[in-house]
Amino acid sequence: MSKTFYVTTPIYYVNDVPHIGHAYTTLAADVVARYKKMMGYDVFFLTGTDEHGQKVEKAAISAGETPLELADRVMKRFQALWDKLNIDYTDFIRTTQERHKRGVSHIFSKLMESGDIYLGEYEDWYCTPCETFWTETQLIDGNCPDCNRPVEKLKEESYFFKMSAYQEHLLSYIDANPEFIQPKSKRNEIISFVKEGLRDLSVSRTTFSWGIPVPGDNRHVIYVWFDALTNYINALGYPDEASNFGKYWPADVHLIGKDILRFHTVYWPTFLMAAGLPLPKKVFAHGWWTVEGQKMSKSLQNVVEPNMLIDKYGVDAVRYFLLREVPFGLDGDFSHAALINRINSDLANDLGNLLNRTTSMIDKYFKGVLPAPEEVTEIDAAYQSKSKNLPETVASYIDELAFSKALQSIWDVVSAGNKYIDETAPWALAKDPVAKGRLATVMYSLAESQRIVYTLLSPFMPATSEKALVYLGYDRECNESSCAWGELKAGTVITKASALFPRIEEEKE
Ligand code: MSP
Repeated sequence: MSKTFYVTTPIYYVNDVPHIGHAYTTLAADVVARYKKMMGYDVFFLTGTDEHGQKVEKAAISAGETPLELADRVMKRFQALWDKLNIDYTDFIRTTQERHKRGVSHIFSKLMESGDIYLGEYEDWYCTPCETFWTETQLIDGNCPDCNRPVEKLKEESYFFKMSAYQEHLLSYIDANPEFIQPKSKRNEIISFVKEGLRDLSVSRTTFSWGIPVPGDNRHVIYVWFDALTNYINALGYPDEASNFGKYWPADVHLIGKDILRFHTVYWPTFLMAAGLPLPKKVFAHGWWTVEGQKMSKSLQNVVEPNMLIDKYGVDAVRYFLLREVPFGLDGDFSHAALINRINSDLANDLGNLLNRTTSMIDKYFKGVLPAPEEVTEIDAAYQSKSKNLPETVASYIDELAFSKALQSIWDVVSAGNKYIDETAPWALAKDPVAKGRLATVMYSLAESQRIVYTLLSPFMPATSEKALVYLGYDRECNESSCAWGELKAGTVITKASALFPRIEEEKE
């Protein structure tokens, strides 16, 4: 049986249009998925849209549409952006689809039958934008502690999930699985939260109707987070064991933003425990992007629109920047200056130049045919061994979801390549007939090192890597064996590369 890997993004609310925050999570998932696929895993990569709830209902009313019309329209924008961003997802789930509704109803009924969901009455403060109830003591100056907006007092009959019953079980799971909640600082936050005590959770609403009805009680719709979280199993075919559900669940990693960590590490695991289902292996919360130092918001009109960025700078430059600029897990700031700087220095100067220098020297000194390496001196051996070690380094960083470190380690080898050219001075070797063997070794080492570099870069920058690998005469799909030194054979035709990343003139921007 082949090894499987299941990675998910949050499902995005359709009351907002996609921005770089959404693109960030989806891109990270895409890189992991592409990398694991290359390494021979049978990968399932899920994304989708969250289409129920009061927030969506209100947005539809103010847009003069039905909620479904709004969802149909906005989910297309997400899909179009994912195409443009070169996201290779396996499946896209919408919570209005039958397969999802069937799964939600099934798990809800199951928990009603086991007594984990019961009918009660609720009176508390509700924040509509956050779709969250708060107790009096949790409010800050009478407002929502998360978004600071006014809350309203709601009293309603409600179904409750016995979350309190799972407190100890959850704590011992977190304790026994140090990898479950990441990064570590977030793990500690969740542990303290759970230790303060879990209350039963209201999992139905009667004040609006845009949602999935509670089985056997049409007056209630199921709470949007109960509905949404189960997308991760419904997309696989839950409750049917013989479907992808049996094959891919539990998820290897749920990638999310830090604002929705509690839903994924407290609510979701306790729902699963109650249903007797295995828990996801890892939940990783990344940080938030600000823009030029400010919170991104519609009212500040500073929302960074990924379509515009891609049109202006190219898809791979944007993909590279988002994962290189900020360590995954920390907050980061987006600025055009930082993006242009990365393009000019990392992509045009370091990466692109190295390929240009190498391919034009092979063109000039060996008529575009890759020579076999000959005598290997210390300097060649050092550069080669750096390149040979790279696949393992990248593998361990990707396993930790340390994307910026993975890219940094790739750039260490790129910089070593540029330095290697400066130190071996091929133009001088070319003038000396007895140095032909040395020159061959230098050219081979440069080409082969970059073939490994672009193989490892292909999950991050698929289009650029494909192009570069064609210049290097490696026109095939990469797999695990592509990472081995010596794959590129002498005699391969190498093509002089044109600039992969033209420099951007900052003044004009
Ligand atoms: N629908 C829920 C998720 C349900 S998952 C079962 C939701 N949707 S969302 O559209 O509001 O947010 C989706 C993701 O976008 C979250 O992970 C959130 O962290 C992320 N981001 C939204 N703004 C962001 C930034 N400014 N920066 C980084 N990520 C941000 O929550």
